[in-house]
Amino acid sequence: MRLIILGAPGAGKGTQAEGLSKKFGIPTISTGEIIRNALRQGTELGKEAKQYIDRGLLVPDDVVIEIIKERLVQDDCKNGFILDGFPRTVPQANALDKMNITIDKVLSIEVEDEKIVERISGRRQCSQCGATYHIIYKPSKVENVCDTCGGNLIMRQDDAPETVENRLKVYHEQTEPLKDFYAKKDLLTVAFGQEEVSDTTEEVYKALGVE
Ligand code: AP5
Repeated sequence: MRLIILGAPGAGKGTQAEGLSKKFGIPTISTGEIIRNALRQGTELGKEAKQYIDRGLLVPDDVVIEIIKERLVQDDCKNGFILDGFPRTVPQANALDKMNITIDKVLSIEVEDEKIVERISGRRQCSQCGATYHIIYKPSKVENVCDTCGGNLIMRQDDAPETVENRLKVYHEQTEPLKDFYAKKDLLTVAFGQEEVSDTTEEVYKALGVE
């Protein structure tokens, strides 16, 4: 399975990718996570990306395309992968086409903007391993402590309300046109995000035609 997941910020791409990754035994490649790791480690990529992420803007196409090119040739991608957060612009989708990789499906998770704001305000992320929680919908066992590694749970810097507003605007302007791009290639399938994570997972399975 070579799958692309599209969706607005906070639509649940990462949450659904985590389950699908386990189910199919394939890696999730999240450009957002790769960039956040670079930020945590203070690398050149992290320093360059920070100025964009903090404003809710996209990192330049050439930077992310290079990240993906290097990542997709690694051994663990041989039997498939899930792309979470890439492509995000038409030039990125064209670049992926040129890599000569056959994509099997493109899943778009649809959630209304108002819901997104509520979801993102409750999201917490582990400062050490990056695991994601929600204070209501996916709470950690111990408040503010990561179930996996015991790290501190914090709010992502780009989850501040004014940044989220910008991220949504950027999504509608630059990423949403990809739905048309992939519909024309007959690859697009849609799942509507539900109130509970498990109900969304059911919709995702239906959309992908898996049990
Ligand atoms: P990225 O990390 O990709 O952020 P995003 O697309 O904005 O998506 P999020 O990670 O915010 O949300 P998600 O859809 O994964 O939702 P989640 O599962 O966490 O990118 C960050 C930044 O990096 C970008 O702004 C950009 O600057 C840069 N970047 C990355 N890729 C790039 C690219 N290709 N080109 C250029 N720049 C790039 O869920 C959200 C919350 O809701 C969680 O708390 C979760 O627990 C909860 N939740 C999930 N599902 C449900 C449900 N069904 N019901 C209730 N709660 C739920």
